[in-house]
Amino acid sequence: MDIRPEDPTQLPTQRRVRLLTQNDRLFHVILAQQFDRDLIDQLCRIAEMIRIIADARAGAKFLNTILSHKRAMLYFAQPSTRTFLSFSAACQVLGMPHNDVRDARTSSEVKGETEDDTIRTLSQYFDLIIMRHPGEGFAEHMAHMLNGMRRNIPLINGGSGKDQHPTQALLDVYTLYRCFAESLVKRIRPEPDSNLFEGKTIAFVGDLKRGRTVRSLAYLLARYGGMRLLFVAPDELQISGDILEHLERNEIEHELMDDLPKIVGDCDAVYMTRLQDEHDADGESKKIDLSRFALTKDMSHLFKPDLAILHPLPRRGELDTALDSDPRAKYFDQMRNGMWMRSALIAYIFGVDAVILDHYYSYYNF
Ligand code: NCD
Repeated sequence: MDIRPEDPTQLPTQRRVRLLTQNDRLFHVILAQQFDRDLIDQLCRIAEMIRIIADARAGAKFLNTILSHKRAMLYFAQPSTRTFLSFSAACQVLGMPHNDVRDARTSSEVKGETEDDTIRTLSQYFDLIIMRHPGEGFAEHMAHMLNGMRRNIPLINGGSGKDQHPTQALLDVYTLYRCFAESLVKRIRPEPDSNLFEGKTIAFVGDLKRGRTVRSLAYLLARYGGMRLLFVAPDELQISGDILEHLERNEIEHELMDDLPKIVGDCDAVYMTRLQDEHDADGESKKIDLSRFALTKDMSHLFKPDLAILHPLPRRGELDTALDSDPRAKYFDQMRNGMWMRSALIAYIFGVDAVILDHYYSYYNF
């Protein structure tokens, strides 16, 4: 990376958030802390509307025109299946042509070009960059750099090292929203100020220390409050202090635990995660006994009847494939929800969410 005059990642969160905003709207999407409850709710509603509109040919055609004048670049410097494909599908939903770089070895970086210059170059050809990168602060640095350019374009973080994955967290909230609203028969318009998370118990299980999805989701859920969060992990992989401090500051009830079978019966949602052993220095986490951190079919007699089982995937042995056919398994729905949520987010960033809302209320609001 180039030498940087100021490190935005070291600034207080509020200033970091301000640097990512333009005209009171999100511009770059880097941190989960950028989303307040109103905005998350609004994005869930837009996602739900897009889902409904896209179902009919005429609706899909309408959506297809919305961003046909913009172009997106998917710059993925780390492996990805779902995030990449759902962003790609989201661009297609909105009619936005897109291109990708998935392997820096095919770019001029092999000729010694810096990553900064690569991003500067992309900013001249595209109107949006969606980025996955192993460096924790990299996307934020790049957003900051773009802010200093004559042509500034939005940048969305599709996963930044062990730190954050805000768009996964958005689709996770949307999934929980749909699960909890389903039982209440409240979808698009939950009563104003109703909090679907009130009184719910949500467990996060697995490698919580290095899993970025749980970190981002904890920030989003803290905007709602009213729920109880259980962090179920072996000591070595337990959630980091910064997240716990954030939950304490926001008075979110939470507990650290180390035995899934013991608490699974109390849960309204269980969010499973895999061991993130790619971050090991020397295979050390492979020695940890993870048997109490797996969800298996033979535990299903303990589950509540409307439990929601989530997993950002990919999975290893921690989530039994025998549960896939259980209606409480929501991890495939989660993927599809991601496509709608990412469509909603891109529409919001380009300020065309109002067009979708208008369309929805003219054609579908019976
Ligand atoms: C997650 C990620 O990349 O952080 N996957 C995803 O985006 N769906 C989870 C993981 O890799 O374990």
